[in-house]
Amino acid sequence: MSDALFNLDREDARARHAALVKEIRRHDEAYYTHDAPIVSDAEYDELRKQLEVLETQYPELVTESSPTQTVGAAPSSGFKKVRHAVPMLSLANAFSEEDVNDFLDKIRRFLGLPEGEPIELVGEPKIDGLSCSLRYEHGKLVQAATRGDGAEGEDITANVKTILDIPHTLNPGAPDILEVRGEIFMNRKKFMSWNAEQAAITKKPFANPRNAAAGSVRQLDASKTAGRPLHFFGYALGEVSEKFATSQEEIRLSLAAWGIPETPYKLCKNTAEIMAFYESLLQRRADLDYEIDGVVYKVNRLDWQERLGFVSRSPRWAVAHKFPAEQAVTRLEAISIQVGRTGALTPVARLEPITVGGVVVSNATLHNEDEIRRKDIRVGDYVVIQRAGDVIPQIVSVVLEKRSKNPGPEYKFPNTCPICGSHAIREEGEAIRRCTGGLVCPAQAVERLKHFVSRLAFDIEGLGSKIIEQFWEEDLVRSPADIFTLEERNKTSLTPIRAKEGWGDLSEKNLFAAINSRRTVPFNRFIYALGIRQVGEATAKKLASVYGTLENLKSALIAAQDETGEARADLLAIEDIGPSVAADLIGFFAEDHNLQQLERLESLLTIQPYEAPKTGDSPVAGKTVVFTGTLTKLTRAEAKAGAERLGAKVAGSVSKKTDYVIAGEDAGSKLKKAQELGVTILTEDDWLALIGAP
Ligand code: IVH
Repeated sequence: MSDALFNLDREDARARHAALVKEIRRHDEAYYTHDAPIVSDAEYDELRKQLEVLETQYPELVTESSPTQTVGAAPSSGFKKVRHAVPMLSLANAFSEEDVNDFLDKIRRFLGLPEGEPIELVGEPKIDGLSCSLRYEHGKLVQAATRGDGAEGEDITANVKTILDIPHTLNPGAPDILEVRGEIFMNRKKFMSWNAEQAAITKKPFANPRNAAAGSVRQLDASKTAGRPLHFFGYALGEVSEKFATSQEEIRLSLAAWGIPETPYKLCKNTAEIMAFYESLLQRRADLDYEIDGVVYKVNRLDWQERLGFVSRSPRWAVAHKFPAEQAVTRLEAISIQVGRTGALTPVARLEPITVGGVVVSNATLHNEDEIRRKDIRVGDYVVIQRAGDVIPQIVSVVLEKRSKNPGPEYKFPNTCPICGSHAIREEGEAIRRCTGGLVCPAQAVERLKHFVSRLAFDIEGLGSKIIEQFWEEDLVRSPADIFTLEERNKTSLTPIRAKEGWGDLSEKNLFAAINSRRTVPFNRFIYALGIRQVGEATAKKLASVYGTLENLKSALIAAQDETGEARADLLAIEDIGPSVAADLIGFFAEDHNLQQLERLESLLTIQPYEAPKTGDSPVAGKTVVFTGTLTKLTRAEAKAGAERLGAKVAGSVSKKTDYVIAGEDAGSKLKKAQELGVTILTEDDWLALIGAP
């Protein structure tokens, strides 16, 4: 601290105070509003300290608006959260004509359509931007939100209102509530000149128009969004108060009539027409004003769309036919091994950096040891790499003509873990070699922590990979529960986080605010966060819906260790949980250290019981049903999806807990078991009547 501060006379002190306040305000604005601090946290903290000292010397300078009195109120995360009334989904991908035919065949099977029955599709360009939901009430734009994790996004209304394409008021005729889903994107040609100007000021050009659009909409100061060459295309609906169309095409025409910009499209009657549309867009790709990375096909009939519904995160009635990946040739400099949270050893190619499709690539995945052998990849080789969308770049092949006359030796995959030195073994029939170090392997522990805080798990902003690694090294966070005791421990620490390099009062405060905002967590996210092998987001949701609370899940999975017991049968009866997933689940709950970790987490967190999706007053919500035999009016897949949509659980086998068995023609052993156990048995028609199907 400078001595000069102590010798100021009153007038000088006042002037110095005003200057410090101005300076701190400027930095607050840079940090909070523009997401772009101009000084380090340490420099900023030094300014605040000076201000505090000055105010202690001259208390009359303290006013209500002084930064010493106000900074506590600054927001830690810029945007309000918005819960989507209807989830925002993503799309399944197709990469070939065969995939497209598969997509159509699946639809036919699901709907029980005869082979060869035409399915009319709307083809639209797949815009490479960021998805956005616009909510209009009585024709007025009231809210705009990002997709976020699909269930909850961020409120970007102020930013979106600066995009000239997007009407604030719709033309007459729209339903009272209308949510339009679409893509915000940056004009491709204008991006080039805008990005060059931008780079001259910030020294940080965007890699492509998509990133530029995303960065622009996430400006905390909406006036910064204004004036950027942003546009919008609408392509789907969220919540609507009344039905106004019977086909995808009618949706598009109505949206256009109300003033929403729409992309060109084509109504296709068969695979030949679909492929022709795909080819024509592929040809025109470079001339379009917007980036596209494929074509989206949507079933035109809305009654079919409704029946088809969704699987996991994507609709069954749409698919994205992606354009071929972009490729480039570069040199393989080294192969290193990464260890994941489940101990998998993954070879990673370190490449001479090269631009592929607008993005600089310096790493690519090599999948596993067989892949390296099959492609005979050697360090020093020139390799063809490709990247498609957000997928991790891959090595396609070696350019043998460019191989040196004295090539390096064949790559030898390690059989010990490069991090902890434990044996790395490959189970029979598995492609992946795994470290057997378990708890002693730091790489696994660190990766588990990264997974725990990741977006679809606890989603703790500010606890990125680098920080997790740092906290691990410094012994601050070694297990998930440690994250939630960090603040308490930090209070008495001799080297608090704010004193570490790159940290300051503000960033420390923001970190704890982010952690504390996640002390209440939905049960399904909690299960997913545990990082149990093979338990992804969909399985976590399923488990949460079946078991409801952590208490139930725990006792059921401990009981399921008994191979012949009822708990094991119940677990296996859950649709989509086979013996292998069950074994991983049971294995997790059989470990003492996992149970201890769960206990610690339970004492630090509030885990919200699973909230079933809204199912209205469906008579089958919460019931467990089993379909058996041949159904005649519905296909099995449609029956199952329909039951689930109404909140029922569909099981694969009959037990005392089954509420209804729906027996089709030629039902056999399951019907017999239901009779023995006295479970209510319904015919297909009884079932349809019960659920009020038309
Ligand atoms: S339909 C339920 N149509 O692609 C319908 N999506 O990879 C879901 N996208 O999240 C989306 N162009 O952000 C649809 N013509 C189009 C699209 C499109 C771009 C984006 C959208 C979606 C992502 C899925």
